Order: sequence, then C-alpha cells, then structure tokens
Amino acid sequence: PVQTGLRHFLDLKDLDGATLRQILDVASSMKRMQQNRRFPLHPRQPLAGRQLGLILSKPSTRTRVSFEVGMRQLGGDAVVLSPQDMQIGRGETLADTARVLSRFVDAIVLRTGNTTNLHELARWSTSPVINGLTPHSHPVQILADIMTFEEHRGPVRGRTFAWTGDGNNVLVSLIEGAVRFGFRLRAATPAKMKPPQAVLDWAKQEGGDVEWMEDPRAAVEKADCIVTDTWISMSDSHEEAASRMTLLEPYRVDAKLMALAAPDALFMHCLPAHIGEEVTQDVFEGPHSVVFDEAENRLHAQKGVLAWTMGGSGWTSFGKE
Ligand code: CP
Ligand code: NVA
Repeated sequence: PVQTGLRHFLDLKDLDGATLRQILDVASSMKRMQQNRRFPLHPRQPLAGRQLGLILSKPSTRTRVSFEVGMRQLGGDAVVLSPQDMQIGRGETLADTARVLSRFVDAIVLRTGNTTNLHELARWSTSPVINGLTPHSHPVQILADIMTFEEHRGPVRGRTFAWTGDGNNVLVSLIEGAVRFGFRLRAATPAKMKPPQAVLDWAKQEGGDVEWMEDPRAAVEKADCIVTDTWISMSDSHEEAASRMTLLEPYRVDAKLMALAAPDALFMHCLPAHIGEEVTQDVFEGPHSVVFDEAENRLHAQKGVLAWTMGGSGWTSFGKE
C-alpha cells in the first residue's frame, strides 16, 4: 500500500533543508504577491480544480482556517471533516478511509490525538498527507515561526532560539526545524517533560546545535527568540493538569525572563495562549511579541506546503505571475 514518491508533509525531519527553504521562499513570494495586489491574488490559480480534505479530530482555529483559505486563494477548494460525522466514528478503518478519501481529494491534512494515525493514513493514502498536529509534532507551525523570525530579523541560520515550558509537540518540530534550518536551540523543560530522547539523539546525529536543559534562565540568556506554548496540550490528561502547572511555574515567560534575552529578542507563541500561565500579559502584548504575525504566517507558510504537495514540477513558480 505504501505509495512512494508522494510528497507527504509529516515531519520537518523527513524533508531536506533545501526543500524546506524552497517552501518558505515560495511562501514569501506568494505573500508579497498578495500584499502588492489585493485582487486577484493568484491570477493563474495554480491549484484550480484541486481539493484538500481536512480531517480534524481536535479543535482548531488557525490550522483549519489557514488551510481552507489558503487552498481557496490558490484556486482550489477544501472540505473539512470531523471524525464524529464520518464512518470512522462507527469503526471504519483508517486504511479504508484513506483509500476512499484519496480518490476524492488531492491532499489530506490530518489533526489527530494519536500519532500512529498520521502514519497509518500516509501508508494507505494515494494522495499526499499533511500533518496538521499530532501529540508528537506540529511541523506547519514551525515553518510559520521561522518565516516570522526571518521577516523581522533576517536569516535564522546561526541565530539562537530558546524554548521554555513543556517539552511538547511544538518543541519537537522546533528541534527538527533548528537542525534543518541551521539555528541554535536551547530548550528548557522540567525533567519530567523532557522532549523525546529519540528526537534529541536525532538532532545530535544530524550535527544540530540543540541543547536540552532544566534551567529556563540559562536557556533564554542572550537568545534572539523566546518561544513557549500552553502548559496543557490537547492530548494531555486533565487529571495531571494541576501537577503539571506546579512543575511549570518557573518556566513562565515574564518580563524578568525576557530581560535576560537579547535586547531585540522576539517572543513567539503558537496560540491559543493562556495569559498568566505560560506567559504574562505584559510580554504577550509587549514590544517583543510577534504572535499575531506568527499566526498570520500560518496561512502563507502553508500555501508553500500546499504548492509543494500538489503543485507538481512547477510548484516553485507559484509566487510568480
Ligand atoms: N497554533 C495552532 O495550531 O492553532 P489551532 O489549534 O487554532 O489550529
Ligand atoms: N501544544 C498545543 C498546541 C496547540 C496548537 C497542543 O497540542 O494542544
């Protein structure tokens, strides 16, 4: 069943740095095109007639809207599905669902609470599969983050990012992004919430400059970008919420922590945010924060992914008229 040659976008580590860079280049030219000329956005409608299926097993604001709107801006369309409304909810297998849906749509985005489902879908689908978040990773988010950093501060290569908080899915993709785009990453999490050792080992093997530590102050020192995320992810059990919050207290991004970073450091958060938990109001609303540019860039970065996934050999010309 495995379809070779399909451009699945499952994790940043699966793509080479040059392809990821090209995706962001195409994304940036499409963004410029959109900003220079409000209408029509993409005169050639490069994905005209293409259909994107989005299967969302978990809530989503940004991922859903940015993929739907992005697809329409490129001339195609999208259909959003919730597993409760599908036969998956009554036990139809993912293997059968994949083989059916991929006859209707040209690519499938999956957001799931079970990482194995993503790989099972990709195994059986005859259309490319895009990771729209799993408990393990969130690669499209990190593409948007890198795009945002570069718009504000120039190339990420050689710069220093710091993570403070939970060792979650967004951190895994940030680690992979650090390796693929060549920036340094210092990630501070409580020992209990350390990112998967396999991911840290992979980063090391690839020659990445990624360091895990427990001390948030050491992580953020002189960093060019501070990144955090919610302390309770969608896949975390609610019973553990209170004990997690206690462990994570010292990892909150407040003005004191921000002051240890480089003077022009950026603050990023994939959103939704929980003010007073992982970040204070003054930092979130303050001059370092670029969280809404970051959210906007979900649209642009993902249009780059859609171009690569479905655009055939001409995908790099999508930002050119
Ligand atoms: N950051 C992000 O993926 O947001 P949504 O959960 O709203 O899609
Ligand atoms: N880590 C968060 C990200 C939400 C976009 C979660 O998985 O819930």
